[in-house]
Amino acid sequence: TRRVAIFVSGGGSNMRALVDDMTGDHPARPCAVVSNKADAGGIKWAQDHGIATVVVDHRPYGEDRAAFEDALNAALVTHAPDIICLAGFMRKLTGGFTDHWAGRMINIHPSLLPKYRGLHTHARALEAGDTRHGCTVHEVTAELDDGPVLGQASLAVLPDDTADTLAARVLMLEHQLYPAVLRRFAADDRQRITLEG
Ligand code: GAR
Repeated sequence: TRRVAIFVSGGGSNMRALVDDMTGDHPARPCAVVSNKADAGGIKWAQDHGIATVVVDHRPYGEDRAAFEDALNAALVTHAPDIICLAGFMRKLTGGFTDHWAGRMINIHPSLLPKYRGLHTHARALEAGDTRHGCTVHEVTAELDDGPVLGQASLAVLPDDTADTLAARVLMLEHQLYPAVLRRFAADDRQRITLEG
């Protein structure tokens, strides 16, 4: 059974979707929920559900990202993850960390990559007049929101969509896509998944 550490910075709804799926014949189980924020909603939920939690506050490290990442790795040792899932983890990771976890770390991003790396993806899709939008799960490399795509889910943008309504619908798709990809990834199957909502 593969051990999965899930990194969150916020509410952790994707983390919950992953955890909820890791039962029965799933090839993986959660070993820890990790955050840079002690007050992340995902940390509270994990504690309430008997999952080990790790908090490494990034603020004492200032600009020293490598030192923050060394602390993350040190805190992970006892949990011995085979796989890291980034699920709304809002710290950029340096090449030192991504190289260490290369091939073992995946991320979900709320756009149809390679479109709209970075922030404000829903507003940018609307601004561009895109008729379809969605989310992507990809392997994490040193480049932000880059790396081999493992799955994409898309939906139609509606005429009266706002960034918020679009974000909410995409988030529901994320909750389908991410568990579907993790199931395959944890079984060493990197065949791309495509979902249409
Ligand atoms: C999700 O929409 C995820 O795709 C996005 O943050 C949200 C986290 O929600 N991630 C990024 O923007 C990464 N740059 P959640 O905490 O409820 O899963």
